[in-house]
Amino acid sequence: MTGKIVILTGAGLSAESGLGTFRDKDGIWTQHSLEDVATPEGFARDPALVHGFYNARRVQAAKASPNAAHHALARLQQEWKAPVVIVTQNVDGLHEAAGAEVVHMHGRLAGALCHRCAHRWDAPPEMSPDDPCPACRQPATRPDVVWFGEVPYHMEAIVAHLSDSDLFVAIGTSGQVYPAAGFVAEAAQAGAETLEINLERTDISGAFEAHRLGPASEVVPAWVESLLPRDG
Ligand code: APR
Repeated sequence: MTGKIVILTGAGLSAESGLGTFRDKDGIWTQHSLEDVATPEGFARDPALVHGFYNARRVQAAKASPNAAHHALARLQQEWKAPVVIVTQNVDGLHEAAGAEVVHMHGRLAGALCHRCAHRWDAPPEMSPDDPCPACRQPATRPDVVWFGEVPYHMEAIVAHLSDSDLFVAIGTSGQVYPAAGFVAEAAQAGAETLEINLERTDISGAFEAHRLGPASEVVPAWVESLLPRDG
């Protein structure tokens, strides 16, 4: 395989950087109600609770470092002879911290959005419902992340990448949230080879031709090494 690679990453990629996943044992959704902190309705009900949830994750993510898997993917993107498109469901900045370019389909903790005028700016470490938007001055700020019931970002570009991919790889995602969970079928439909990298089998493992099981910080560098042997 020497062609275009499209990679979808999920919370499992950042687990070994100390950031929680959502659906594992003790995952984020076992500690917080996603209806309260990750939906527009929850935000309308209690914006301070939602800002508090994202403030804690933003501060934690800012202290985290990329792990060997993030670095291996950045190396692959730099050295592979064809395009390597990394689409992430993660809202942390660890792909960028490792030097990769990435498509944030669920937004970014480091981004702030005004829900009155749609202005975007770099989020301060802690946000509050009283913060005035830098553009329209209204107290209408929210984290620039995609909540349940909202449309993920960059979907047109992502679908176009899937339709001309030669290899689709899903890393550290449980395959329980659409549209991301449907990407493997779109890529396979377009004739791409498919590979799942995860600690364990998932609800969508059956849709992948190949699997590499184990912790991302070990399995991803080994996989990249199989594509880009180091000289000598
Ligand atoms: N290495 C590889 N995979 C791992 C590791 C690890 N060290 N640790 C956990 N995993 C795997 C788990 O087996 C699981 O399949 O990562 C996956 C994490 O699944 P989720 O917690 O559901 O996270 P994710 O798939 O990214 O969730 C998708 O759901 O809640 C929304 O917006 C949120 O972007 C998130 C989306």
